[in-house]
Amino acid sequence: MGSPGREAEVTRADFPGGFVFGVATSAHQIEGARREGGKGDNIWDVFTDNKERVLDGSNADIAVDHYHRYKEDIELMASLGFGAYRFSISWARIFPDGLGEKVNEQGVAFYNDLINFMIAKGIEPYATLYHWDLPNNLQKTMGGWISDKIVDYFALYAEACFANFGDRVKRWITINEPLQTAVNAYGIGSFAPGGCEGEIARCYLAAHHQILAHAAAVDVYRRKFKAAQGGEIGLVVDCEWAEPFSEKVEDQIAAQRRIDFQLGWYLDPIYFGDYPESMRERVGSDLPTFSEKDKEFIRNKMDFVGLNHYTSRFIAHHQNAEDHYFYQVQQVERIEKWNSGEKIGERAASEWLFIVPWGLHKLLNYVAKKYDNPAIYITENGMDEEDDPSTTLEQALNDTTRVGYFKGYLASVAQAIKDGVDIRGYFAWSFLDNFEWAMGYTKRFGIVYVDYKNGLSRHPKASALWFSRFLKGEAAEN
Ligand code: NOJ
Repeated sequence: MGSPGREAEVTRADFPGGFVFGVATSAHQIEGARREGGKGDNIWDVFTDNKERVLDGSNADIAVDHYHRYKEDIELMASLGFGAYRFSISWARIFPDGLGEKVNEQGVAFYNDLINFMIAKGIEPYATLYHWDLPNNLQKTMGGWISDKIVDYFALYAEACFANFGDRVKRWITINEPLQTAVNAYGIGSFAPGGCEGEIARCYLAAHHQILAHAAAVDVYRRKFKAAQGGEIGLVVDCEWAEPFSEKVEDQIAAQRRIDFQLGWYLDPIYFGDYPESMRERVGSDLPTFSEKDKEFIRNKMDFVGLNHYTSRFIAHHQNAEDHYFYQVQQVERIEKWNSGEKIGERAASEWLFIVPWGLHKLLNYVAKKYDNPAIYITENGMDEEDDPSTTLEQALNDTTRVGYFKGYLASVAQAIKDGVDIRGYFAWSFLDNFEWAMGYTKRFGIVYVDYKNGLSRHPKASALWFSRFLKGEAAEN
């Protein structure tokens, strides 16, 4: 079932010289300034106007006010020793109505300032174009990712970002976790835009258009910008490791199928030109098809794989194995039941997040083998803790479990590099505690604590200080 969690000391010397260490965030989760700088509403702004959508009834109108405090944040990041920052650009700051006609100069100015400031502090920008904050107008007028029109609007937006920022941004990510947008936003409705409850099959359409939009943005980059700007562009996919529950062949097949329904859904079309066979078989006519022209267009539209990874699951065969809805909706319930029998790892605060460092090692080897050893960046990895009002600041800063999480997962990354997997960088999620989508501020993923009750002040946790010593090559004792 995998080797035990590796808590052995991991040091920076275990990684190649040019390996990138950074932190990650996203615009909607940290910026705030909902109505400033000419920004239009995005789907999360509108979704959270209904307080019932979020566990604590909160929203990201102010979030952690990064829009006004970005200098302080970047300075802290630099002083800790991080060399790269993965942030996202808010589409509705660049094109408030999403239509791609006239850029909002104030939005461009904000990201210019942010990018210039991080470069001045020695931090390399990794920019994500889409991290779930679709301009609401595109949702209202055409159904957002359900419409094929979105592909062209996304390409226009991407082009504006390449034109305005590409002289300094050399690493681009088109879309963050298309799986979550497909399933949670357009299938289940627990994420913005919601309003589609019970129409799970829509997830396949939302996924399809994200794949085409990704390819369209890469195409624009390669045709118009790459030669002059010399950067790279990829997609960020998320995948848990699926560990077969037993040696039984049917459990092994079920685990593989689970990976197909997460990772293969997006990477197979790009690397092989079509959806995995297990999906085509089960989803049938609900799965859109790629024309020959589409297949040609999307193939190899990837300079690197961005991988978000948090956790692993035991996967067993289930009687509903023929039902594709089962894979999208009910599997979490099943997994919890199995986990209560035998734990795959300790649970963090989120009900889906178990601490399983060896799962990342297996997943990295799987990706290398299946997709012919592509360049990989781990674009997110981290764990959360509950926001507990009875906890003192001192206690909250003493996040020793998170220190152990990073040690274990980084050791797995180092091991995979030794195995020959081409991993170029690692980004911790997240730099700051922030707006955790439908969970609001109840979950804290930051290595830097944000004091919501005291002026949003920032306080590095033990994990940030551990990282800092690790990055500086100092003894990384806890
Ligand atoms: C992945 C998402 O990209 C990020 O926005 C989110 O906060 C983390 N997972 C934690 O749930």
